[in-house]
Amino acid sequence: MANASPSFQNPPRDCALCPRLAKFRDQNRTTFPDKFNAPVPAFGDPGAGLLIVGLAPGLRGANFSGRPFTGDWAGDLLYKTLLDFGFARGTYGARADDGLELVDCRITNAVRCVPPENKPTGPEIKQCGAFLRDELAAMSNLKVILSLGKISHDAVLRTCGETLSAHPFAHGAVHRMAGITLLDSYHCSRYNTNTGRLTEAMFRAVFEKIRDIAR
Ligand code: URA
Repeated sequence: MANASPSFQNPPRDCALCPRLAKFRDQNRTTFPDKFNAPVPAFGDPGAGLLIVGLAPGLRGANFSGRPFTGDWAGDLLYKTLLDFGFARGTYGARADDGLELVDCRITNAVRCVPPENKPTGPEIKQCGAFLRDELAAMSNLKVILSLGKISHDAVLRTCGETLSAHPFAHGAVHRMAGITLLDSYHCSRYNTNTGRLTEAMFRAVFEKIRDIAR
């Protein structure tokens, strides 16, 4: 898919901006040589009105498949919900070549490389924010951003030059920013869904709001 802006840049396969993540990637390339093991690019049309921003690729999910949330536990609920709400068509097969298409929707992560123990550090989130900024700048029809979790929420606010204190994270919160609306959801992670912090009904309620704003 062509990118909408000439300034848009994906991190290179061997991006070395975050030494800890680059080292982990090298280890994973040795352990899992037939897997993707590189910065995971966004999925979907840059001309979309909705951007979903997750945290970072899961080791055996997006890091293996090369597509955000694909093969991750969190992807099962996310892609099911996108299909139900018409933001995707086809069948989600937990692999990048399943033929699934997003509809007026794009998905990326605050951090493009898989972090050890699923936990990116503050400097890594800040470093990768340059790619998120380019991503947002390339999306000329962007109306709504859905942040999955507080790390994504904070990264989006920083990228948009908004203060964190003016926009506290809360599940279901709607933040009006210049020309764009930011919605928050608890991350659809295994931990959050298993503990009941995020139920399917709560997640669907967020998408009902998105549908009202985006369409
Ligand atoms: N997979 C992703 O790509 N992002 C997340 O935030 C979680 C799982």
